[in-house]
This record gives sequence, structure tokens and C-alpha cells, in this order.
Amino acid sequence: MSRNILVTGGAGFIGSCFVVQQVEARNNVLVLDKLTYAGHLVNLEPCLHSSKFSFAPGDIGDAELVARCLKEFRPDAIVNFAAESHVDRSIHSAEDFVRTNVLGTEQLLRTTKDWWQGLEPEAKKKFRFLHISTDEVYGSLDKNSAPFTENSPYAPNSPYSASKASSDFFVRSYFKTYGLPTLISNCSNNYGPRQYPEKLIPLMVLNAVSNKPLPIYGTGLNIRDWIYVEDHCEALDLILSKGRMGESYNIGGECEKSNLEIVYFICEILDEVIPKSDGTSYSRQIKFVADRPGHDFRYAIDSTRVKKELGWTSRHCFPEALRKTVLWYLDNSEWTKQVMDEDYRKWLHQQYQDFDSSKSMEQKD
Ligand code: NAD
Ligand code: TYD
Repeated sequence: MSRNILVTGGAGFIGSCFVVQQVEARNNVLVLDKLTYAGHLVNLEPCLHSSKFSFAPGDIGDAELVARCLKEFRPDAIVNFAAESHVDRSIHSAEDFVRTNVLGTEQLLRTTKDWWQGLEPEAKKKFRFLHISTDEVYGSLDKNSAPFTENSPYAPNSPYSASKASSDFFVRSYFKTYGLPTLISNCSNNYGPRQYPEKLIPLMVLNAVSNKPLPIYGTGLNIRDWIYVEDHCEALDLILSKGRMGESYNIGGECEKSNLEIVYFICEILDEVIPKSDGTSYSRQIKFVADRPGHDFRYAIDSTRVKKELGWTSRHCFPEALRKTVLWYLDNSEWTKQVMDEDYRKWLHQQYQDFDSSKSMEQKD
């Protein structure tokens, strides 16, 4: 039976992937999105003309708007992707992170709870609020520590992860206090098409082909656990339909790579598909730059719960999915043109102007 799903933040990277999958599955989707610098309707192009899709521009913190959407759309579920999502921006200023991730999420919960309390018993029982969170709430791991489980203590280190941790706690509190049927997912680093090119993988692809430096923070030995975005969204679908109320589910790609490894993989793909005319490797553009303050060393996820309880597995293998991702950015110059606007150029200038503190890398092509 088709479901009505309200997807907040559905015009961003992961949210748009989830929306496309849900519309393809014949569910009715209403996207509520503020369209910040990271949100673009072009991300939703595959479903913009579907009768299953509708869009409401606006803020999750706008109680009146959210209440109207709830009343008119009558969702069976809300999936909350809306957030400020970039660690480096949170280091420059945490204000928007507190406003959306903390205050916005709490307001969304409050408006939802007020509406949900008035539903018929059957609809009330069926309703779910799935909050999308991150493994970064657990802090940083050493090289040999066991991966994060759902029982790992929260120890956020960046303003971004602190704001996400806070939102997770509010979600938990609405389950414990009001019985709102909530679920939380904590996922590792996603990659795939339509990721805003402030994040590592699209930034490196697009800088490489524009002959710009590939800025590696610190030593480049920091490790992330990478998951293809479609695999993440498939796990979210299972959590939404079969997850236990009030629970958290960790989702990871079992694919730990250092940042340097990732950048070398990207350069290898580019060297093969669009070799440079002078025969040198794109990896020559690598520049080590000042480290990110409070840079978490390693994230790794233990996905046993989502696998065993809900039967999830990731379908994509890293080398092929990374190649597909790199090719997507090369083949979609219209998309990159649209999202790499004046605001983007300002961000690059603010974040990367200080290449004086960088040192070129000894190359070993
Ligand atoms: P994104 O930055 O690409 O998209 C965020 C979306 O939220 C944008 O469309 C933006 O316009 C919208 N938005 C922001 N503030 C809003 C507000 N106040 N009201 C309504 N809409 C608003 O982010 P993403 O990478 O797609 O991440 C989505 C969610 O997943 C976030 O909650 C993030 O914390 C979480 N997450 C991301 C990753 C990752 O690797 N990208 C990993 C784990 C978890
Ligand atoms: P990012 O994509 O910002 O995700 P997160 O910080 O949420 O993990 O960064 C991934 C890793 O890449 C992180 O260790 C920081 C590093 N990084 C760089 O070395 N250079 C860059 O220009 C960026 C954006 C990230």
C-alpha cells in the first residue's frame, strides 16, 4: 500500500536520493525544504513532474507552515534530512547549525507531536518520525578501536556534530516523554551524485578538472567509512517500515579509507578517463594545507543491528560506485554550473584562500 511521506530537507544530497527512490516505489512524497545554498530543486529533477511528488518551500522551524503541511498532506511518516551539514562551515560559525539542527528540529518535533496527538488511534499507531543523523555524534576513534555501535557514548567534537547530537537527544526525549514514535539513524560518510561540492569527493573531482589544488587537511591520514548514497537510502526505507520505535540504527559502508587514499583513487580514475595533455597525473595537484581544528581522526560503523534485525546489506562496492560517482560529476556540467554559484565561490575563497600555509607534496607518480 502506498504511503504519504513528508521529507524535510529533501532537496539536498541524501534527501533527494531518498525522495527519488520513494516516488519510484509509488509512495506520495511532499518535500519541505528551505533551499539553502545546499538545497536545489534540480536535485529532484527525476520526480518533479510526477503526480506522486509535491514541494513546499520553507523552514522546519516554521510551525504554521509545518502544521498546514501535516493537516493537508496527512503523512504516515516524516523523514527529517533538513540540516546544516558541513563541518568546516560550522567551524566558521555555528549559528545556522544551532538554528536549524537544534531549534529547527525541536520545533519540527513539537509541531508534529501536537498534530500527532490529535490523530485517530490507528493513524497514531502507524505514524513514524525518522530523524537522519550521523556517526560523527560518537566522536573520534583510534586506529585500532572497535567501530561505533548504537551503545557507543555520544562525544561530539565539532559544532556540527554537537548540533546533531543535540537534535538526536531531542528526538529521544520526544519518544520517552510523549511517546512520539521516533526512529534515529546514524550513518557514515555518503558519496554519490548531487553532493554539494564543498564535501571531499565532489570538491576533489571538480578542483582536479579545473586545474586547481586538491587541498588535503593535515596529513591526509584521517579515516572515514564511505557508503554509497543509494545504499544508505535503502537502509532508511527498511528502518522506516520495520525499525523498532525509539531505537537508533547505525549504517556504515564497511569501507574505511584515509582521505589520501580517496584522493589518489579519484586521480587514478581521472588519469584514465580524461588524461592530462602533458601526461602528468592529477595527483600532482595535491596540496597539504593546515589541518581542520578538532579534526576527528577516524569514524567506523558497526552495522550489525540494521543487518541482523532488518535484513539490510549494502549493494554497491566501492571502486565501481566511486567510478560511477566521478563520471557523474564529469557528465553533469549543467548541474555543477547551477550549484557552483556566487555563494559557492565565496565559500571557496573563505575556506581555501590561505594556501600560503600549504606545502606542496613530494610526488611519486
Ligand atoms: P545537504 O546539506 O546536502 O542537504 C540539506 C538539505 O536541508 C538542503 O536541501 C537544505 O536546503 C535543507 N535545509 C537546511 N536547513 C533547512 C531548514 N531550516 N528547513 C528546511 N530545510 C532545510 O545534506 P546531506 O548531506 O543531504 O545530509 C542530509 C542529512 O543527513 C543531514 O541531517 C546530515 O546531518 C545527515 N548525514 C549526512 C551525511 C553525509 O555524508 N552527507 C552522513 C550522515 C548523516
Ligand atoms: P567532509 O567531506 O567535509 O566530511 P566530514 O568532515 O563530515 O567527514 O570531509 C571528509 C574528510 O576529508 C575529512 O577528514 C576532512 C577531509 N577534507 C580534506 O582533507 N580537504 C577538504 O578540502 C575537505 C572538504 C575535506
